[in-house]
Amino acid sequence: MDEYTQKVFEHFRNPRNVGVMDEADGIGKIGSEDCGDYLVMYIKVDENEFIEDIKFQIYGCVAAIATSSALTEMAKGMHIDEAVAITEEDIIKYLGGLPEEKIHCSVLGAQCIKSAVLDYYQKKLQTNEDI
Ligand code: FES
Repeated sequence: MDEYTQKVFEHFRNPRNVGVMDEADGIGKIGSEDCGDYLVMYIKVDENEFIEDIKFQIYGCVAAIATSSALTEMAKGMHIDEAVAITEEDIIKYLGGLPEEKIHCSVLGAQCIKSAVLDYYQKKLQTNEDI
C-alpha cells in the first residue's frame, strides 16, 4: 500500500480525543528519535481499571496523528490490560492499512498507551494503593 486510506485521512482531519486532561491517572510520553515527532497521552481509569477517558497531544506527521487518534478510539472503554496489548499491527488494521514507509509512525501510539499505564501504576505505588 503506498497511499493513505480514507480512514487515515478522516482521522487526520478530524482527530478524536485531542487535548489535555486535568488530573489524569496516567500520562504517557514518547518521541521518535528518527523524525522528532512527539506524543503525550492522558488516561483516566475507573475503579475497575477500565479506561473511561483518554486524550492526546501530538507534534507529528499525518500518519502519527491518524494512528494516535485511532489508538484512543480503540482504547477508550478497554481494560488497561487489553489496552497495553494493542499493537502497531492492530492500529494499522483498524485504519485499513498504512503506506510502507509510514508504518513506523504507528509505534508512537502503541508505545504511548503503555507509557501512560506504567505511569498509572507508578502513581498507585506512590500512594500505596493495591496493585
Ligand atoms: Fe515521524 Fe511519522 S514521520 S511519526
